[in-house]
Amino acid sequence: MTIIVTVWRPDPEERQAWATHLGQALGNDYQVVTQVDPLARHAAVWAAPEDFFARSPRLQSVFSMGAGVDHLLHHPGLPPALPIYRLEDAGMGEQMARYCRHEVEHVLLHHQRYATQKQQKQWHELPARSPADLTVGIIGFGVLGRRVAAALTAEGYPVRAFVRTAGQRENEGVSLFAGPQQWPAFLAGTQVLILLAPHTAQTHHLVDAQALAMLPGGAWLVNVARGGLIDDEAVQAALRSGHLAGATLDVFSTEPLPVDSAWWTLPQVRITPHVSAVTLVPESALQIARRIHALDAGQDAGATVDRRREY
Ligand code: NAP
Ligand code: GLV
Repeated sequence: MTIIVTVWRPDPEERQAWATHLGQALGNDYQVVTQVDPLARHAAVWAAPEDFFARSPRLQSVFSMGAGVDHLLHHPGLPPALPIYRLEDAGMGEQMARYCRHEVEHVLLHHQRYATQKQQKQWHELPARSPADLTVGIIGFGVLGRRVAAALTAEGYPVRAFVRTAGQRENEGVSLFAGPQQWPAFLAGTQVLILLAPHTAQTHHLVDAQALAMLPGGAWLVNVARGGLIDDEAVQAALRSGHLAGATLDVFSTEPLPVDSAWWTLPQVRITPHVSAVTLVPESALQIARRIHALDAGQDAGATVDRRREY
C-alpha cells in the first residue's frame, strides 16, 4: 500500500520543489502530495494553515521544514500526542557559522565605527585588535551553536556558551555556563552576544533590560534565533544610550518586519530578512526521508522534539 506524505509551505513553487526532492528520496512505496490529504501518514510543513491537522487525521508524525519548531508548537490545531521531528543541521550549520563569523569580524575590524566616520568625513585610525581580544558569548550550544563556536574558536576568538542544562558534556574548547547563578558572569564577560537558542517560554525576552545591563558597555548583539528572545524596547533603549554599540538582527518578533518598525531607523542596526541559515531543500528532504523510512520500519527516527522543554 502506498504511503501518503504531505508537504506544505505557503509558496506553491517551494511546495512543488519539496515534493520532487522528497518523492525521489522516499522511493516508490510513497506518494508525496502538495495538498492536504486526509489519508496522509506523515507531513513536512512550514507555516501550516489553521485547519491543516484537523484535515489530516491519520498523521503519525510531523516534520518541521526548519530547525525551529515554534511554528508547530504554537499551531492552534496541533494534536497533543502527535510526534514532532525537526531538521538537524541539513546544511544550515555551515551557513550559520559563516554568517556569525562575518558579523563578529565586522565588530572586530571596527567596521561600524568606520561607517559612521565615513558619514562624518573623518579619517581616524582605531587600534587594531586580534580575535583573542574579543570574547564571544553564544546562548545555545546545540547543533548550530556548536558549529558557530567551532568556526570562531578556529579563528582564535575566546568563546563561551550559555545552555539550559549544565551536566557532563564535551565543551569543545568553549567555556560553558548554565543556570541563573552563572548568567551574570556569562554576560559580564561577553563582548559579542550571539543568540542561538529556541524560542520557548524560558527564553522569551531572555535579553531584557536587566540582561543588557550586565553586558559590558560597547557590546554587540547578534540575533539569529528568533525575535521573541529579545525585548525590543529594552534593546532599542540600550542602542540609543550607546550601552550596546550595535546589533545584527536576522529575526524579528513580527516577520516580515513592518515598514513602520523602529528597527529600520537605527543606524547601528544591521538587518537581514531571516536568512542566516536557510533550509536547503535537497539536503533537508534526504534527512526527512531517512527519518520517515526509520519510523515506518519501527525504528527510532532521532531529532524528536520534547514538547515539555519546547525544543
Ligand atoms: P538545538 O540543537 O536544539 O540547540 C538548542 C540549544 O539552546 C541547546 O544548547 C539548549 O541547551 C539551548 N537552550 C534551550 N533553552 C535554553 C535556555 N532556556 N537557556 C539557555 N539555553 C537554552 O537547536 P539548533 O538546531 O542549534 O537551533 C537553534 C535555534 O536556531 C532554532 O530553534 C531556531 O529558532 C534558530 N534557527 C534560526 C535560523 C535562521 O535562519 N535565523 C535557522 C535555523 C535555526 P541544552 O544544550 O542545555 O539543551
Ligand atoms: C529557521 O529559522 C529554522 O528554524 O530553520
